[in-house]
Amino acid sequence: MAISKPLIDITNVTALAGEKEILHNVSLALDAGTCHVLMGPNGAGKSTLGHVIMADPEYTLSSGSIAFEGKDITDMPTYKRALAGIFLSFQAPVEVPGVPLYSFLRTICAARPELKMTARQFRKHVHELADELEMDEAYLTRDLGVGFSGGEKKKVEMLQLLLLQPKLAILDETDSGLDVDALSVVSKGIDAYRKSCDGTLLIITHNTRILERVSVDRVHVMVDGRLVDEGNASLISRIDAHGFEAYTQE
Ligand SMILES: Nc1ncnc2c1ncn2[C@@H]1O[C@H](COP(=O)(O)OP(=O)(O)O)[C@@H](O)[C@H]1O
Ligand SMILES: [Mg+2]
Repeated sequence: MAISKPLIDITNVTALAGEKEILHNVSLALDAGTCHVLMGPNGAGKSTLGHVIMADPEYTLSSGSIAFEGKDITDMPTYKRALAGIFLSFQAPVEVPGVPLYSFLRTICAARPELKMTARQFRKHVHELADELEMDEAYLTRDLGVGFSGGEKKKVEMLQLLLLQPKLAILDETDSGLDVDALSVVSKGIDAYRKSCDGTLLIITHNTRILERVSVDRVHVMVDGRLVDEGNASLISRIDAHGFEAYTQE
């Protein structure tokens, strides 16, 4: 039997923003269909790792490599990674005045040949998903993100996730500002995404309520730009109870 390769394999990545080294020798491999959580104190480098996986030009690698589906993507630009099936949700989603949400969704779908649908199929599908997420359909015709509340932005994000069905979804969650309803939207969206396409998740979060409905395979802890621990889902409650003290003491 062939040994299956991880979906994404990050090996010894050291990343800089300008001159400043932020990630130090980070290695992380995620198997297809698994759900991983990345935790760590503020400023640990969690968001940076997400951006590095997405090839944000803000960061450069001074060493290391990233393979996706067994193929080296270290030098692949962001748009190609997106087309290959990597999705990153931003901590602070963008607002795009003049572009209605519906047109935006249609455009990103049209860029992915495997998601080809007729206008009519697309319309039906988007409305079904909006329904599933209990999203007010009026938002579909409003400008992307403009004047959306935190909870509504989360619904849009989950709508994108369900529509695009990326192979790897990196969800970078805000540390605060989400009310109980928004948390429930995220949790529901994640659950629906996993059920619909057996996708792989890397969830960056402090807020373990998001994980209520999600079964977590592996938890990783990042401190000062290094991965310092990993474990099964029980690590989440341990960190909830004790914080990151155990990792930050000299
Ligand atoms: N573009 C950047 N330029 C300079 N410093 C940055 C940049 N991005 C992140 N950093 C720094 O890198 C560290 C890690 O940031 P970040 O990845 O946002 O942490 P986390 O998401 O774990 O809170 C912080 O000290 C932050 O100030
Ligand atoms: Mg962050």
